[in-house]
Amino acid sequence: MDVNIKLIDSLDDKVINFMIEQYIELHNAINNIENLDQKTYNRIYRAMQKIISKDDVGEGDILYGAYLDNKIVGYAYIGSDNYLRDLFVKKEYRNKGIGTLLMNEIVKNVEGNISVTASPMSIDFYKKHDFLEGEVNANNTVEMERISVR
Ligand SMILES: CC(C)(COP(=O)(O)OP(=O)(O)OC[C@H]1O[C@@H](n2cnc3c(N)ncnc32)[C@H](O)[C@@H]1OP(=O)(O)O)[C@@H](O)C(=O)NCCC(=O)NCCS
Repeated sequence: MDVNIKLIDSLDDKVINFMIEQYIELHNAINNIENLDQKTYNRIYRAMQKIISKDDVGEGDILYGAYLDNKIVGYAYIGSDNYLRDLFVKKEYRNKGIGTLLMNEIVKNVEGNISVTASPMSIDFYKKHDFLEGEVNANNTVEMERISVR
């Protein structure tokens, strides 16, 4: 599988739509929802489209996309404050090393400690990538931090 990691310098509709799909998928997974009915899905989708704007990638933020045959299958979004806002791989492409490719790119290019609020199902992934577990939040997400050794 030939996956390329590319820097995304501005959000286009394809990336925004991919982000929204991933947010909804994670929300459903956390809340044990099999599938949202179409009406609810559309409502959430439109609300999120309003929130994510095309110039959302701020000064110093880094956004990487994982592409398979020019199709986006994952992305990582890290703020200038070294807080990893998003790390997602599309469901059918998980456990193939794509998350690791994205994480390696972040670690290679970001200086200093990296923090993340990990979803319950991603804690083991972050542990493998040298993140330490911190405070557990009320919704079972966990604050984690990777200490830079450079
Ligand atoms: C967390 C997440 C980004 C990880 O991405 P991923 O692409 O599945 O990660 P990887 O494939 O690199 O690693 C996951 C597992 O696959 C294994 N793996 C890595 N390369 C592999 C390969 N080439 N073939 C088969 N398995 C492989 C890894 O060893 C790892 O398994 P292990 O935990 O038993 O060691 C992804 O699961 C995801 O999007 N989850 C839902 C969203 C989410 O919770 N995101 C975090 C929000 S904070």
